Amino acid sequence: MTRYLVTGGAGFIGSNLIRHLLETRPTAEIVNVDALTYAGNLESLTDVADDPRYTFLRADICDAEAVAAVMDGTDVVLHLAAESHVDRSIVSDAPFVRTNVLGTQTLLAAALAAGVDRFVHVSTDEVYGELPWRDPDDGDPSAPMFTEETPIAPRSPYSASKAASDHLALAYHHTHGMDVVVTRCSNNYGPYQFPEKLIPLMITHALEDRVLPVYGDGLYVRDWIHVLDHCRGILAAADRGGAGRVYNFGGDAEKTNLAVVTTLLAILGKPTDRIEHVKDRPGHDRRYAIDFSRAAEELGWTPQVGFEDGMQDTVRWYLENPTWWERVKSGAYWEWMKEQYG
Ligand code: NAD
Ligand code: TYD
Repeated sequence: MTRYLVTGGAGFIGSNLIRHLLETRPTAEIVNVDALTYAGNLESLTDVADDPRYTFLRADICDAEAVAAVMDGTDVVLHLAAESHVDRSIVSDAPFVRTNVLGTQTLLAAALAAGVDRFVHVSTDEVYGELPWRDPDDGDPSAPMFTEETPIAPRSPYSASKAASDHLALAYHHTHGMDVVVTRCSNNYGPYQFPEKLIPLMITHALEDRVLPVYGDGLYVRDWIHVLDHCRGILAAADRGGAGRVYNFGGDAEKTNLAVVTTLLAILGKPTDRIEHVKDRPGHDRRYAIDFSRAAEELGWTPQVGFEDGMQDTVRWYLENPTWWERVKSGAYWEWMKEQYG
């Protein structure tokens, strides 16, 4: 058996990763450590909650005693717990520094003390900063992309806190010889994503016939990857990544935000007249694009889910699971939004 300690397993990517691990690895034992912040939701894991190979522990990754206790006996750490939303980091950044930086350091120290075999630190392409704008449909193969050698240049409090945690993780490798792998992935979408992020927000707002708030001109470019492709990438890095190496993952699907929203509306059969251009996000990164050739060459990983198919599946999931997102939307997040924005 291999014992995986998954942090942030009650979140969007973590819950998909735990389900994927249980489905594909009969020898996996999983301990999910999650503080259950506003973004953590055990209703995303009800189908696996009774699996004898799965255990949940409610704990804060900044709690050194709790983390040390659970680290004992762990083979592989898959570290996903984080404050993850850029807009929130603009309004209040202290929780980002606390969880993303101090929490990561607490885990690394405990993993070092326990002598775990491998520590996979799950990070983001946002640590590279932004790229100059380009039209994703121009077909220009020479347009710049982030590689693992691109200098780190984060521009939001979220990405700055993630960059700090990446540096710490790699410092544990260089200083202490710990077996650490860092992954940097582009924007994920798929089932169980909290509806503060672009895609689930737009799907659920459209279903509720609300205004669809597109920031600024809507021409900001992101690369979109299906969450299952990201999960496969994290496990490929855990299995075959080199110690001290960084791996980029992307979906090979650069889109403007307006293109994403109009695609979703077309799938839903809804008109585009509810789209409203609203005040822009401060410091909004113009474009992200990712070169994942290292992951392809060294891990044998490439994305399997095409953007159109992934969008169809995702929309279907939100249509089939209204209880999940209606409960999330009626809860703490919307109280917070009301406090911030009235
Ligand atoms: P999420 O916000 O959906 O989930 C985060 C989880 O972490 C929640 O379950 C929350 O309860 C838990 N958590 C937060 N603070 C904690 C603490 N102090 N102690 C224990 N648990 C805590 O995030 P996500 O979208 O699933 O992202 C997971 C990871 O992947 C993050 O590290 C994020 O930076 C990274 N990532 C996300 C994306 C994306 O598009 N969502 C892309 C690249 C990388
Ligand atoms: P988001 O899902 O917050 O991810 P990130 O900021 O980490 O890339 O946002 C994706 C893009 O969508 C980003 O350019 C901001 C934009 N956006 C909107 O235009 N409207 C919205 O309501 C949200 C949440 C995001």
